[in-house]
Amino acid sequence: MRFLRNDVVAAVLLLAPFSLAAPTEYSKKLPQFATIINRRQLNANNATYDFIIAGGGIAGLTLADRLTEDPNVKVLVIEAGPIDPGLEGIQVPGSFSPWYYFWPNLLTVPQTALNNRVIGTVSGQVLGGGSAINAMVYVRGDADDYDAWGFMQRRGNSSFYGNSSVSSSMSWNTMLPYFLKSENFTAPDAAYALEANITWNPAVRGTSGPLKYTYPPYYFPGAANWWNAAQSVGLPPVDDPLSGVKNGIFPIPSVLDADTMTRNYAKINHHDRVKQARPNYHVLAGNIVGKVLFDPSCKKAIGVEYLPTSGGAATNVFASKEVILAAGGINTPKILQLSGIGPKKLLDKFGIKVVSNLPGVGQNLQDQPTLTVPYTFTNNLTPNSGSLMANATYNAEQRALYDTERKGAYTIISSLSTNIGQLSLKQATSDYQAIIAAARAANPADSLPADVDATVLAGYQVQREAILNQFEGDVGVGNLHWGTSDNALVYHLKPLSRGTVEIVTTDPLVNPAIDHRTATDPIDFAVYTALFRKNRELFAAPDMQVLGPAEGAPFAAATTNEEIIEVMRDQINPSNAHQCCTAAMLPKSLGGVVNSEQKVYGVSRLRVADISFWPMQTAGSPLGTMYAAGERLADMIKAEYGLA
Ligand SMILES: Cc1cc2nc3c(=O)[nH]c(=O)nc-3n(C[C@H](O)[C@H](O)[C@H](O)COP(=O)(O)OP(=O)(O)OC[C@H]3O[C@@H](n4cnc5c(N)ncnc54)[C@H](O)[C@@H]3O)c2cc1C
Ligand SMILES: *[C@@H]1O[C@H](CO)[C@@H](O)[C@H](O)[C@H]1NC(C)=O
Ligand SMILES: *[C@@H]1O[C@H](CO)[C@@H](O)[C@H](O)[C@H]1NC(C)=O
Ligand SMILES: *[C@@H]1O[C@H](CO)[C@@H](O)[C@H](O)[C@H]1NC(C)=O
Ligand SMILES: *[C@@H]1O[C@H](CO)[C@@H](O)[C@H](O)[C@H]1NC(C)=O
Ligand SMILES: *[C@@H]1O[C@H](CO)[C@@H](O)[C@H](O)[C@H]1NC(C)=O
Ligand SMILES: *[C@@H]1O[C@H](CO)[C@@H](O)[C@H](O)[C@H]1NC(C)=O
Repeated sequence: MRFLRNDVVAAVLLLAPFSLAAPTEYSKKLPQFATIINRRQLNANNATYDFIIAGGGIAGLTLADRLTEDPNVKVLVIEAGPIDPGLEGIQVPGSFSPWYYFWPNLLTVPQTALNNRVIGTVSGQVLGGGSAINAMVYVRGDADDYDAWGFMQRRGNSSFYGNSSVSSSMSWNTMLPYFLKSENFTAPDAAYALEANITWNPAVRGTSGPLKYTYPPYYFPGAANWWNAAQSVGLPPVDDPLSGVKNGIFPIPSVLDADTMTRNYAKINHHDRVKQARPNYHVLAGNIVGKVLFDPSCKKAIGVEYLPTSGGAATNVFASKEVILAAGGINTPKILQLSGIGPKKLLDKFGIKVVSNLPGVGQNLQDQPTLTVPYTFTNNLTPNSGSLMANATYNAEQRALYDTERKGAYTIISSLSTNIGQLSLKQATSDYQAIIAAARAANPADSLPADVDATVLAGYQVQREAILNQFEGDVGVGNLHWGTSDNALVYHLKPLSRGTVEIVTTDPLVNPAIDHRTATDPIDFAVYTALFRKNRELFAAPDMQVLGPAEGAPFAAATTNEEIIEVMRDQINPSNAHQCCTAAMLPKSLGGVVNSEQKVYGVSRLRVADISFWPMQTAGSPLGTMYAAGERLADMIKAEYGLA
């Protein structure tokens, strides 16, 4: 979920102390006690690492932490962004100001199904990646999402499964241990939990991992009206939204440190937490990886070329074991393409030597579109999420409460509320069978660009099969939320449309062309219309009607499906900053880019760790799955190299 501003969904150096480890050749050359390294130190020493990780976001820092648990393993993380010095707008939820660290100038190409709008799309550029600036919503996918990944992977004809026992099968059952390992849940106060309808099952909540989360100890009174209205339109309370089953309504778990009520993010939980004991864990911030370097004789990744994000000369640094890409759903396909790994046709266009011809690189882009529906109220309750801005007395009172007792409205991400709903297609509309029938009757090829590669199309066909099964079953296809002030949010979780990310130059400082192709598959409009209508139904329920809501322009005048779709063309935001799936973990015959061990096809010693590896979106926000996936991949790598 992302931050809202002005009624628009906003296209929103440290020193480690002494270590007792015996000095190695390596530690004599590089500053033994520093984990933050600079270019001059790297260059002067022609340093070689065991692993180089491109991108210090959730996956990158989870891996760096786990791999450096072995004191003999040297890891370098190269992060394009700066290191946050502790800005209030990052740490304090009520002061949420993510734009400090937005990746600059990230725009879509004109979106043909959205009246050719060009829209800002958001991604983090800071140590911690998206986790430093996200809306802190902590959920998992539904159990069937991970089972569907496994289902798709078993459908290919090419070799897919590696030798690692960790990798053998992707499913909810194989992911759950990694969710538990990744996290540390702090239960809310029991009396408060009862009042706020917070329920959970301890069996699916880890309590000893690095990622801390809990619930804000406060809610706006309107949250209760929304909760009761949602129940009256058929959305039941969910026992535990982290159990793999979460259709219905639930209070939102948040990645808050219960002790400080500040954001717990990857820099804190997978770097700062361990830095004092890890002279073997280095971070180079403010530098961008341009491409992967290969041994020309055997297509083995041997290092990376990098340069200052602000521009400057490129330099090389070498990895003796592996290069791991963790640059996120937009930037990992860009690095792959610049390195000669991607569709031959695209690489030829820029004179890039083909190292591995993989048509799937930069295809299969998926996000979770968002729709902001404005409301005015004749009789809204106060305080609400707008009161911190509108009422200076309330703001001062809440700030004092936060500063002294770590309670109150400042524990909630600014502009959001604390309850949310997830809907299956059946819950969204009684017309669900007609939507599924129309989707089954359509030709999948019509949903992809005309020149799509046959393997990518084959992969998409298998994805459609999986999604349409989910439409028939009980997997979430949308979220509804009301911030308790002037906006409702309608999220589309399972689009059938697929986009692309393609380089436009060989300059690593230039962003690629991002084409979400949002709603180019017309079924997406049908599902989204159903979700929008369900939100209307919820606002029409007595518990919301007592607040005197009026839907704002341009939605209010739209009544027929056709009219609603026309408004949506103007209003849908293609992205919730959940860009994924552009280097999919699928068999090569299905357009896959990495195998079950996340190794890139056609080369050796190169893996993809970030959200690019997902084959398909899950019913939920991605952060939780990325922490767990990082843990899983770390186990695979440790097993392969026999690391401690
Ligand atoms: C504003 C916003 C709100 C969000 N809200 C939520 C939410 O509430 N809940 C949720 O679950 N998810 C949310 N997300 C999504 C979630 O944060 C991301 O899906 C997640 O961080 C992806 O993890 P990752 O490891 O794949 O990549 P990221 O965490 O994005 O990390 C990638 C890192 O790589 C760096 N990088 C990129 N290219 C290069 C390069 N060439 N060289 C070096 N470094 C590079 C980037 O600077 C970045 O730090 C939100 C995201 C944003 C941006
Ligand atoms: C730097 O290290 C690489 C790999 O270890 C080696 O091939 C290269 O010759 C070294 N360069 C210098 C100038 O020492
Ligand atoms: C796999 O092989 C079967 C039988 O030969 C064929 O029907 C199917 O289309 C192939 N699938 C892919 C993805 O190539
Ligand atoms: C699995 O191990 C065998 C024997 O070591 C090797 O030949 C093969 O390439 C490995 N397969 C993969 C996918 O790594
Ligand atoms: C889990 O988080 C709580 C709250 O911050 C903390 O007190 C506890 O020490 C943490 N447990 C572990 C194992 O880190
Ligand atoms: C909690 O649930 C009860 C019973 O359904 C309901 O009356 C109340 O409004 C809810 N409160 C919140 C904050 O959701
Ligand atoms: C502003 O906040 C104060 C303190 O919570 C409250 O007493 C007052 O009623 C609020 N004013 C309005 C207009 O809501």
